[in-house]
Amino acid sequence: MRKKIVAGNWKMNKNLQEGIALATELSVMLAADKPACDVIIGTPFIHLAKISEVIDHKNIRLSAQNCADKASGAYTGEVSAEMVKSTGAEYVILGHSERREYYKETYDILKEKVQLALANGLKVIFCIGESLDEREKGIQNQVVKAELEGSVFNLSADAFKNIVIAYEPIWAIGTGKTATAEQAEEIHAYIRSVIAEKYGRQIAEETSILYGGSCKPSNAAELFSKPDIDGGLIGGASLKAADFKGIIDAWKR
Ligand code: PGA
Repeated sequence: MRKKIVAGNWKMNKNLQEGIALATELSVMLAADKPACDVIIGTPFIHLAKISEVIDHKNIRLSAQNCADKASGAYTGEVSAEMVKSTGAEYVILGHSERREYYKETYDILKEKVQLALANGLKVIFCIGESLDEREKGIQNQVVKAELEGSVFNLSADAFKNIVIAYEPIWAIGTGKTATAEQAEEIHAYIRSVIAEKYGRQIAEETSILYGGSCKPSNAAELFSKPDIDGGLIGGASLKAADFKGIIDAWKR
């Protein structure tokens, strides 16, 4: 059975002290009330090593939100996949639409990052999703397929098992506009079919596909009830322990 996952993407929020406080609060909550899914928090780089010391890794796994497209060396300001791994992090989020748009991360750059992450023993939460314009043109399926082909379908079947997909329609991120559970299910099923074409039914069935975009405690249970939605990648609602816990608890309903 594929993993059920609720992953937080803190983005560029919380200073170090605030981040430690949030992770500690969540860790205490989940120790008292064990989650029925895997819980991941994606924090800024500088938080990783400290937070790794304060959380119970059985209940919370740690993720970075990016890593460099080079292994090591003279790349001032960059953080490598090896460095991320050495903090105790198990995952890295790659391909987020904010990185594609604001930092011009292309299919090829992301392909390098994915390979380096996997080579260093990290699992990858790989984000895909269409813009409002693309959705209105009805080309969302082509967009997500091209994103997969551009950066992860070069992987061997064995390597691909370390990829979690996050479908995040750009028009739903931070806008309060969630895709309906039906809209999300339709494209999740399509994504799974594309993975099946490439890697076969079994690997497709074992791949977790998360929904992201204005997911909150009030809509998580409905989204997660769909057969091809295996959890969520949560931005805004991951910044308050109670809200994030509310989404985690959607797997218990
Ligand atoms: P949101 O962000 O939950 O704030 O819409 C999701 C994401 O960008 O990962």
